[in-house]
Amino acid sequence: MASYVFEPFKIKAVESIPITTRAERERYLQEAHFNLFNLPSSAVTIDLLTDSGTGAMSDEQWAAIHRGDEAYAGARSYQRLAEVQRELFGFPYFTPVHQGRAAERILFEILLEPGDVVATNQPFDTTYANILARGATPLELVIEEAFDTTSPHPFKGNVDLQRLERALQGNPKPKFVLITITNNTGGGQPVSLENLRQVRALCDKYHVPLYLDAARHAENAYFIKEREAPDMSIRDIVKETFALADGMLMSAKKDGLVNIGGLLAVRDEDLFAKIQQNMVRTEGFPTYGGLAGRDMEALARGLLEAVEEPYLRYRVGQVRYLAERLREAQVPVLEPPGGHAVYLDMLRFLPGWPREHLPGQAFTIALYREGGIRAVELGTVAFGRHDPVTDTWEFPRLELVRLAIPRRVYTQAHLDYVADTIIHIHRHPDLIRPVRIVEEPPALRHFLARYEEL
Ligand code: F0G
Repeated sequence: MASYVFEPFKIKAVESIPITTRAERERYLQEAHFNLFNLPSSAVTIDLLTDSGTGAMSDEQWAAIHRGDEAYAGARSYQRLAEVQRELFGFPYFTPVHQGRAAERILFEILLEPGDVVATNQPFDTTYANILARGATPLELVIEEAFDTTSPHPFKGNVDLQRLERALQGNPKPKFVLITITNNTGGGQPVSLENLRQVRALCDKYHVPLYLDAARHAENAYFIKEREAPDMSIRDIVKETFALADGMLMSAKKDGLVNIGGLLAVRDEDLFAKIQQNMVRTEGFPTYGGLAGRDMEALARGLLEAVEEPYLRYRVGQVRYLAERLREAQVPVLEPPGGHAVYLDMLRFLPGWPREHLPGQAFTIALYREGGIRAVELGTVAFGRHDPVTDTWEFPRLELVRLAIPRRVYTQAHLDYVADTIIHIHRHPDLIRPVRIVEEPPALRHFLARYEEL
């Protein structure tokens, strides 16, 4: 029987969730053109679209909000964030940014030129798009186990070191290495300290800087403690992780435990000067970075709460609980479950389904119709390609649906409801109807496409 780690907090404020009828959901689906990004949140009972910016803040964070100093330059709230940054991550230079992709845009505008190559384990989709937008190309060098959803490998976010070394010997040599911790695209899978040390050694050997996309760094640290370094504290793991890097980009909407915010931190003074110039032109003065002073206060506090071990045990435990409930009912989930989400493997869930009928998207529609639950497809819609002229498809290696768990928001009963709904659909696959795309934008189409059921 699946076991649940109890919440290391009690509830002080509550928010009602919408309860809808099946007929209402049918209408909402039609109005949304079967794209769940188009649903108003008032139509969603359990929202597992993302863990980004959707977490609950603590009483201490709300209290900190009242201490927000809204000075344009040199605010006290910036100083507090700077202290926490130094204490936890140890970079000599940093700036807040409004969210992760702002850090991506700024750093890539400075470092990348057309024709450049970036070596990664796997970039998140906005990161990928921001690299492409510079005319550069991301190389995905995650280990092969990442593509086997049944492999129990403990660090499926790891880089394939042989492929990385070959890439670093190549022409053009990668401008930098960017490692995503945890690897969201590959299932929220962690990267080991040992792998990061080896990547660092290769970066030193070939004189290439190493950056971390550290949106879920605390969850990554928890997995390292559990699977690799049980004698280290979470804080020491975090410190060592960042000590290996020349800089980091962070969407603080995940392990920063805030609803908006991000960080960009580096060691190189000259690079930081360029970042500051870019910031002033595009995002705001570098001591606020597009955030309100109160946002920085909440972030300073959230970063500290995210590395508390009881919190992480509950957090990772909650995700694991949902995965275990599904596994017990033979629902195929990506193994082992990651830090922020359970990923369903649609190729095993709907064996033999034609992929051009978009099994992941079809399942998310069924999940909403049956239970008012919103999840996101990460398969053919998100990563595949279709040539309308020749009507040929290029399918990604994995066909996943992500059930992202917002931090400190849902209880065991909510997760049981999610598990029961999915198990019901798994036993009645006729509830899933084939879909096709009727309208799509040229890039990042899963956000804006329109569909119809066949
Ligand atoms: N890097 C990673 C690993 C991410 O998961 C995200 C966002 C970003 C960068 C971009 O950060 O949203 O603050 O601009 N991931 C969200 C998700 C949107 O649903 O996984 P952002």
